[in-house]
Formats: sequence, structure tokens, C-alpha cells
Amino acid sequence: MVPPPTRILLISGSLRAGSTNTALLRTAQTLAPDGTIAVVYEGLGELPLFNPDDDTVPLHPAVADLRKQISQADALLFSTPEYAGALPGSFKNLLDWTVGGGETYGKPVAWVNASGSPTGAADAHRSLRTVLGYTGSGIVEEACAHIPVVRSAIGSDGLIADDVVRQQIADVMSALASDLQGRVQPPGPRG
Ligand SMILES: Cc1cc2nc3c(=O)[nH]c(=O)nc-3n(C[C@H](O)[C@H](O)[C@H](O)COP(=O)(O)O)c2cc1C
Repeated sequence: MVPPPTRILLISGSLRAGSTNTALLRTAQTLAPDGTIAVVYEGLGELPLFNPDDDTVPLHPAVADLRKQISQADALLFSTPEYAGALPGSFKNLLDWTVGGGETYGKPVAWVNASGSPTGAADAHRSLRTVLGYTGSGIVEEACAHIPVVRSAIGSDGLIADDVVRQQIADVMSALASDLQGRVQPPGPRG
């Protein structure tokens, strides 16, 4: 029997229309390996400012949608810029909403650093690792990569056409998919 496809939720930390991070993830969506469905999360700008007092039922619809999309995903792939040596506030806000929900607990996660400079965004990614530790996510180290993307690499379709970059992105998606496959438990003996 063909197993159901695994689902990877792609979350960009940038709200910018011409974002390199979002372009990378949109390209990743088109490069999802066989047996994998990749979905780009679109709701970053709709999330209310995190307030623990508001982490109650009924949740803000944007928060409920975020948590539902994370629950439905088998893995998460992040790509975020760094602002002033840290994670962008809007993206940290998203991460804060994931702490109380518990949907990320044990969830395989990885990130791609799209910074155009070889040492760029290192502080943001150190911080992301710390935050993900608090959310209980399982970091898939083999799928974390620095794939520099310059703004001129984004085509009019919003995707990255460069073959070298596309291969690097495809490798990340394959690494994440392989990790998920390794986690699938074979069916036990029928009694
Ligand atoms: C306000 C601001 C602060 C930034 N601070 C940093 C920084 O501390 N480190 C860094 O590597 N890049 C920094 N950058 C550069 C961004 O990370 C870079 O423009 C990146 O392409 C933005 O991602 P995006 O294209 O997905 O929007 C900063 C950009 C802005 C607008």
C-alpha cells in the first residue's frame, strides 16, 4: 500500500513582498520530493501580538490557523532574515505563539539561512535554535543549511531559477523527507 504523503510546512520570517527567504521557500515547495507535500504558510502578518492572556479559547482565528497548520504538518522548514542581530519581531511573535500550543513538541524542524553574506544572520539562527529548544522541536541537523540568495536571483515568477541554488534547496527538502521516512514505524504484526 502506498503510504500517505508527508507534509512539510514552510515558514518564512520575512513579511517583505520581494523577500529572498520567501522566494527560497516557494522554490522549495516546487522541489518537494515524491511522496511529500510542501505548503507555504501565508499568515505571518495576520497574527496578533503575543500576549499570554490571549492564549485562551476562543483563540484569535490567525493563531488557531497557525496551530492547525503546524499540527497537520509532519515537519517544519523555516527561512528567516536577521534584523539588528536578532530574529525579526514578527517571526519571533509567531514562535512565541507556538510555545503554549504544544504543536511543535517533538516535531522535526530545520532551517535555511538565505543571507547573501557567508557569515550573515548567524545571530538570528543561534537565537532560532534556542527558541526551538524551548518549543520542544526536534532539529534535523542534516537539513539545516546556509544557501545564500541574492535579490537578483528571484525571477518574475517569484522563484529562484539558478540550478546550483535549486539543487541545494532540493537537497534540504530531501534531507528533511528522508528524516521523516526514517521515523515512519513499519506496521506491526497483525494479531
Ligand atoms: C532593519 C534591518 C536590519 C538588518 N539587520 C541585519 C543583521 O543584523 N544581520 C544581517 O545579516 N542582515 C541584516 N539585515 C539584512 C537582511 O537580513 C537582508 O536584507 C535580508 O535579505 C532580508 O530578508 P528578506 O529578503 O527575506 O526580506 C537587516 C535588514 C534590515 C531591513
